Amino acid sequence: MIQVVTTVRELKTALESYRKAGKTIGLVPTMGALHEGHASLVRRSVHDNDVTVVSDFVNPTQFNDKNDLQNYPRTMEADCKLLDKEGAQFVFAPSVEEMYPEPDNRQFDFTPLDKVMEGPSRPGHFNGVAQIVSKLFYAVEPDRAYFGEKDFQQLAIIREMVRQLNLKIEIVGCPIVREEDGMALSSRNMLLSKAERKLAANISRALFESRRYARQHTLASTRKYVIDTVNSFDGLEVEYYEIVDGNTLQPVDNWDASSYIVGCVTVRCGKVRLIDNIKYKE
Ligand code: PAF
Repeated sequence: MIQVVTTVRELKTALESYRKAGKTIGLVPTMGALHEGHASLVRRSVHDNDVTVVSDFVNPTQFNDKNDLQNYPRTMEADCKLLDKEGAQFVFAPSVEEMYPEPDNRQFDFTPLDKVMEGPSRPGHFNGVAQIVSKLFYAVEPDRAYFGEKDFQQLAIIREMVRQLNLKIEIVGCPIVREEDGMALSSRNMLLSKAERKLAANISRALFESRRYARQHTLASTRKYVIDTVNSFDGLEVEYYEIVDGNTLQPVDNWDASSYIVGCVTVRCGKVRLIDNIKYKE
């Protein structure tokens, strides 16, 4: 049966005996509202480690929009059921006061990774992510931590944070899980109306089609193809589509510029911001 832990102290005590016995610990940081994408991270952690801790905490410091924070889906009971089924041992669900007994004034700098794509659109977002993920790393001291490739920029920034803080934690990136129609799974999908959800499938469709298109077209033309295709649907609006080097996240201008090329998109669908990405080269 999964054990729900709400304080850092309780968590450290619970994990101590495992650590002393030389057991490995995997951490899956989440903000709850769990879906099959999260389940895939948990399965991977359960497979790789003796103990899996899943954190379930909607982190206020990474929201630059109060409404977005308020509307973020919260489904703790269903989350615990899913985690129990997947074989995680602990769910760490602290209060805001527990994680932030005082304001966290730490300012991270991940230049240039945090200066592109989501960075300018969501001021303070990645700083907030780094604040909470570093706190979770200090609380759990995991051997490995698992993040989805859907949040491609976040994953790159967390790898950089681990490097800057000299932490001995292996960061494991896991592939995007998609619905049958190609839509990338996201907790935010729950916020879409039925009609919006159907419309949103055109985002991944355009990305997949662009992979075929890219074989015979320049990078600039492929970028334009994705933007124009998605924008051609009433109700979808591309915020950005950048084709970048998968390690530095800096835009590249031709297909030979790197051996690892990824296209990252953010699209507005009604009130919901949806993100997705596709690998052209790896
Ligand atoms: O990806 C998320 O759900 C969040 O950004 C994370 C990593 C759990 C930090 O709050």
